[in-house]
Amino acid sequence: MKTIIYNIGTLAGILPEGIEKLEGAQMNNVECLNNAYLTIEDGVITDFGPITDVVSGCSGFQNRATPLAAEGGAHEVGGIVLQTTTPTADEFIDAAGGYVMPTFCDSHTHIVYAGCRDGEFRDKIAGLSYEEIAARGGGILNSADLLHNTSEDELYNQAMVRVNEIIAKGTGAVEIKSGYGLTVEDELKMLRVIKRIKETSPITVKANFLGAHAVGRAYKGRQSEYVDLVCNEMLPAVAAEGLADYVDVFCDAGFFTVEETDKILSKAAEYGITPKIHANELEVSGGVQVGVKHNALSVDHLEKTTEAEIEVLRGSNTMPTMLPGCSFFLGIPYGNAKGYIEAGLPVALASDYNPGSSPSGDMRFVMALGCIRMRLTPEQAFNACTINTAYAMGVSDMLGSITKGKKANLIITKPIPSLAFIPYSHQTPFIERIILNGK
Ligand code: NIG
Ligand code: FE
Repeated sequence: MKTIIYNIGTLAGILPEGIEKLEGAQMNNVECLNNAYLTIEDGVITDFGPITDVVSGCSGFQNRATPLAAEGGAHEVGGIVLQTTTPTADEFIDAAGGYVMPTFCDSHTHIVYAGCRDGEFRDKIAGLSYEEIAARGGGILNSADLLHNTSEDELYNQAMVRVNEIIAKGTGAVEIKSGYGLTVEDELKMLRVIKRIKETSPITVKANFLGAHAVGRAYKGRQSEYVDLVCNEMLPAVAAEGLADYVDVFCDAGFFTVEETDKILSKAAEYGITPKIHANELEVSGGVQVGVKHNALSVDHLEKTTEAEIEVLRGSNTMPTMLPGCSFFLGIPYGNAKGYIEAGLPVALASDYNPGSSPSGDMRFVMALGCIRMRLTPEQAFNACTINTAYAMGVSDMLGSITKGKKANLIITKPIPSLAFIPYSHQTPFIERIILNGK
């Protein structure tokens, strides 16, 4: 199956093969090509270039009403004779002068959950903090109760609504965490749902085992025993079924300590499972350091950081990932993305879509917050939401940029004036069509 997208006003996010991530000043640029075409074969980008490469004798190619014919040769279009040298294709898509860009990669979400926590929303508005809501038995434990009483099928159905919602908003790859089970059975239930989403949805999915999200109710006051449960029962069961690509720990004040995180990540290493962890949302927790020690693919949140975190990340393979939707919703500080980039580090931005601290998976809004609240340039925010989040979920060899050989997961936009328009006019519909796996 071969597809040609033509009439592309701007092809944005072009990278050469072999680039895994962008860091420091590399993040300042988004490579673009105006008046372009792109070919897809069997779901993969096989070629792209200026439209003049495939159509000679044609200027003013934009706004053409008649599609290119499926055969090469001479075609009359709007009174102009076009000599196409295009090879035949099964499908022609007219981008009508819009942008074509890679879909967003969302490297940090919790979209498998039951029901919602709109009651806590009222508590939050009334002035309770995230920690206070959690301490009252709300928060993650509230979601764990709801999940326990929800069947696997129902959980899948509710999660698929969110999967389809984020696809419609331009996300083409998503990492999904467990962590609302907090018992062996319920963590496995969540991870089986994630596996089913992987198998049945067109989006690329990675599964992250977050048994250490909070201490399960039955273990109240016995945190070290719960950590043993995670290490000695949950992890072996998860590994035996091959349910997790990654392992996560909420390493933060009031949740899990550096020592506990170290223990869980050491155990996960025995099963060959790479960490991607929560750190420094509520306090400077030491989570970044323990994550880097275990060669974590990413350390996420980082609303609270010092120079020490920047130093330890320098030269590591760990992607600092910030979640501005969480800062927005909880009213907590935004991560110092600009400082990280100025220090030469890469930065990724993800949604953290979850019922408690970020009930939105809109990556365009994340990009807008990156610009408006973190003062990233549109180009930096674009790179942070595409190639760098692709790296942060281990898929940058196949997603996150316009590169020959990568999966054709693409957004075709409506005609828009610039890349900056995407975060700037962030409530104006901008997506004309989503292509996943070339379809
Ligand atoms: O990333 N911080 C920990 N976990 C989630 C929130 C989970 C919840 O409140 O349900 C987060 O913000
Ligand atoms: Fe999270």
